[in-house]
Amino acid sequence: MDNFTFYSPTFFVFGKDTENEAGQYVKQFGGSKVLIHYGGQSAKKSGLLDRVGASLDAAGIPYVSLGGVKPNPRSGLVYEGIDLCRKEGVDFVLAVGGGSVIDSAKAIAAGVQYDGDFWDFYSGKAHIARALPVGTVLTIAAAGSEGSPDSVITKEEGMFKRGTGSNAIRPRFSILNPALTQTLPAYQSAAGITDIMAHLYERYLTNTKEVEVTDRMIEALLLTMKHEGPRVIADPNNYDARANIMWAGMMAHNNSCGVGRSQDWNSHNIEHELSALYDCAHGAGLAVTMPAVFKYVMNHDVMRFAKVAVRVWGCQMDFDHPEVTALEGIEAFRRFLIDLGMPSNFAELGAKEEDIPKLVEVLCHGDGRTGSISGFVELSEEDCTKIYQMMV
Ligand code: NZQ
Ligand code: ZN
Repeated sequence: MDNFTFYSPTFFVFGKDTENEAGQYVKQFGGSKVLIHYGGQSAKKSGLLDRVGASLDAAGIPYVSLGGVKPNPRSGLVYEGIDLCRKEGVDFVLAVGGGSVIDSAKAIAAGVQYDGDFWDFYSGKAHIARALPVGTVLTIAAAGSEGSPDSVITKEEGMFKRGTGSNAIRPRFSILNPALTQTLPAYQSAAGITDIMAHLYERYLTNTKEVEVTDRMIEALLLTMKHEGPRVIADPNNYDARANIMWAGMMAHNNSCGVGRSQDWNSHNIEHELSALYDCAHGAGLAVTMPAVFKYVMNHDVMRFAKVAVRVWGCQMDFDHPEVTALEGIEAFRRFLIDLGMPSNFAELGAKEEDIPKLVEVLCHGDGRTGSISGFVELSEEDCTKIYQMMV
């Protein structure tokens, strides 16, 4: 196991009706003027925004609102949010929504306290040293942004989708009410489940030896998702399955399963170009990307793929031909995602084969990259081209 530090100070409030406590927690964490940041229609339609507003009113905390965050959030609204916070003297950003809303809120919170262009944080020119405090009321189990130090934003000029990370933007508190996720369309639930499993796989694919404790934690969470995923697709109102998925989604990405080990993230990088160009759901893009990446890199450490195949997917170990077991595990995962309702190829995702050179160019050269991406294995432009072709 490698040396590591682990700091995850988010205060979690979990369970039914907990969104009504938002005002109380904003106050506890020092907010006196709030920006409520939200997405399209869902939080309005369900009455959630009204409940959160009422809870701020009850706590005597004034607020302004900025909605309109789109999935795969854009830089344009971040600039707008930064201006609004400065103009209104906002000192706390409350995200009400999914990963896109939370990531946009984090970007605004960091941008308000920075003299330069907030994009500097995403292009790697600057590190986020301070930010306004952020709180969240989560409405979809997926990105894990409610417990992570990360934020992913797409810059309209060039459609660069890039991430940044800093403990300064980790949410101070996150309110997780699984019942809020019961209104999700099945496709979004499935995309969220896929993303959670991707966060687990990206950590499982490591070059660090002897990391059994985190291997076992990841396997336990993958087994949970394997069990609970189909249950929420079959019965969207199953609160207990929603609850298990929601907490698994947080644990999959606050890095408790990723400490002391190298991680992959090639699938995420390859996928981010797809959701940037085609505006598909991030999880749906991952469903198409992961099986191709896994098959391509499998021989780098075939026993690792065989291990997850046996321990999670119930495959029989073929000791003479571990590559057969490894491949069976990847296939079982691919079929699982299809059964959830996820796409399995470019056409189903809305991607086009003729765009592959463009995807590879932005992936390997865009915004400061130098011709390859690296994770579990280093992937050259040629490798990335072959992987995208495998998805067609
Ligand atoms: O905008 P509204 O109307 O709210 O609709 C949203 C949106 O269309 C809808 N939705 C959310 N909660 C709902 C609901 N509909 C009905 N009922 C509810 N309770 O779902 C759609 C997707 O929302 P979004 O926030 O985009 O989903 P998700 O949480 O999957 O976030 C995806 C974004 O997070 C980034 C992704 O790249 C993508 O941009 N990621 C962020 C990470 C992080 N910050 O740590 C890590 C991830 O790997 C990921 O890259
Ligand atoms: Zn993800």
